Amino acid sequence: MKILITGGAGFIGSHVVRLFAKKYSNYQIYNLDKLTYAGNLENLSDLQSFKNYSFIKGDITDETFINKLFLEHKFDSVIHLAAESHVDRSITDPLAFAKTNILGTMILLNAFKNIWNGQWENKLFYHVSTDEVYGSLGTTGLFEETTSYDPNSPYSASKASSDHFVRAYGETYGIPYVISNCSNNYGANQFPEKLIPLFINNIIQNKSLPVYGDGNYTRDWLYVIDHAIAIDLVFHKGKNHETYNIGGFNEWKNLDLVKLLCQNMDTKLGRPLGASEKLITFIKDRPGHDLRYAIDASKINKELGWKPTVTFEEGLSKTINWYLENTIWLNNVTSGEYLKYYKNMYLNS
Ligand code: NAD
Ligand code: TYD
Repeated sequence: MKILITGGAGFIGSHVVRLFAKKYSNYQIYNLDKLTYAGNLENLSDLQSFKNYSFIKGDITDETFINKLFLEHKFDSVIHLAAESHVDRSITDPLAFAKTNILGTMILLNAFKNIWNGQWENKLFYHVSTDEVYGSLGTTGLFEETTSYDPNSPYSASKASSDHFVRAYGETYGIPYVISNCSNNYGANQFPEKLIPLFINNIIQNKSLPVYGDGNYTRDWLYVIDHAIAIDLVFHKGKNHETYNIGGFNEWKNLDLVKLLCQNMDTKLGRPLGASEKLITFIKDRPGHDLRYAIDASKINKELGWKPTVTFEEGLSKTINWYLENTIWLNNVTSGEYLKYYKNMYLNS
C-alpha cells in the first residue's frame, strides 16, 4: 500500500509519519510537505534510514505538480494533514488559509478522484480536521459528530469548508473518505506559536506570558501521540463516509493551564515557586475568540475502542522535558522569521 501523508514535517504530521513508518514496514509512506515556517525535517531525522519512507517537497496548491505526482505514484490512500494551522495567523492573513486549506484540499481530492476514476476498492482519503469547525460552546455541552458547523475564525472557516468538500467528493464522486475532528494537541515538535510551546519557550527565556483577555477560555487538550494512535485506528477501522471526534476528556481554562505550566517549569528549572507566574501578562483579546471547546469522543471510544493513553500530568511533563532537552531545535525555529512574527504579534499590539 502506498500512502501519501501531507504535512508530515509539521507537528502532528511528523508523529503520524513516524507511527506509520515504524509500525507498517509493508506500507510505502510518502511525506509531502512544502516546508513552510511550520514544517521542519529535523522532526523526522530518526527516519532517514527507513526504506519504507520518503520525503517529497511540494505544495498542495500547485495543481500541475500534484496531478503529476499522483499519476506517477498512484497513491492508494491519502492522510491529509497539510494546512495553515494557527488561528492568529489566519486573522492577519485569511487568504493564505483559504488557499492552502480549501483549494489545496480540493486539488488533492481532484487528483485522487482522477487517478482511481471509480475503482475505489482499498482506497481511502483521510482528512484530518479540527473541533474548531463546530464554533464555540457555552459553559456546558460537548461537540458531537452531529453538532452543526459554526466556525468563527478564518482558520476554522477554512477547515470547515475543506471538510464540506471532502464530504461533497464522497457523495458526488463516490470517493471513500473518513474525517476526524480533534481537539487541541500538545507535545514534542509543536511550533512555539501555539499556547503551550510558546509559553514554555517564554518561561525558559524569562519573557512575559501573553494571556488573551481574562484567560477564562477553555480548551480540551490531547497528547499528540494519542491523536496519532487515533488516526491509525480511524484509518484502518473507521467506517467509510463517517466522521470521528477525537478529544482528551481534559478541559482546562487557559489561566489554570498556564499556572500549572508555570509551577512545573519552576520545579524543572530549579526556580523559586511563583517565579514563572509573575511573567503572566493579560493582553488584548483575540478577535472572535471562541469561549470553549470540548469533545464528546464516545463514538470513537465505542466503535473503535480508542481512548487517551497518556494523562495530562504525564503528557505535560514529557512535553516540557522535550523542549528543555531540545534547545537546538527550539533555537533553530525561533530565529529569523519567528522574531519578526513575534514582534508583529505581541510587541506592536
Ligand atoms: P502544523 O502547522 O504544525 O503543520 C502543518 C504542516 O503542513 C507543515 O509541515 C507545513 O509545512 C505543511 N504545509 C502547509 N502548507 C502546505 C502546502 N501548501 N503544501 C504542503 N504542505 C504544506 O500543523 P499541525 O498542528 O501539525 O496540524 C496538522 C493538521 O491537524 C492540520 O490540518 C490541522 O488543521 C489539524 N489539527 C491540528 C490541531 C492542533 O491542535 N494542532 C488539532 C486538530 C486538528
Ligand atoms: P492556541 O494554542 O492558539 O490554539 P487554538 O486557538 O487553536 O485553540 O490557543 C489556545 C488558547 O490559548 C486559546 O484560547 C488562545 C489562548 N492563547 C493566549 O491566551 N495567548 C497566546 O499567546 C496564544 C498563542 C493563545
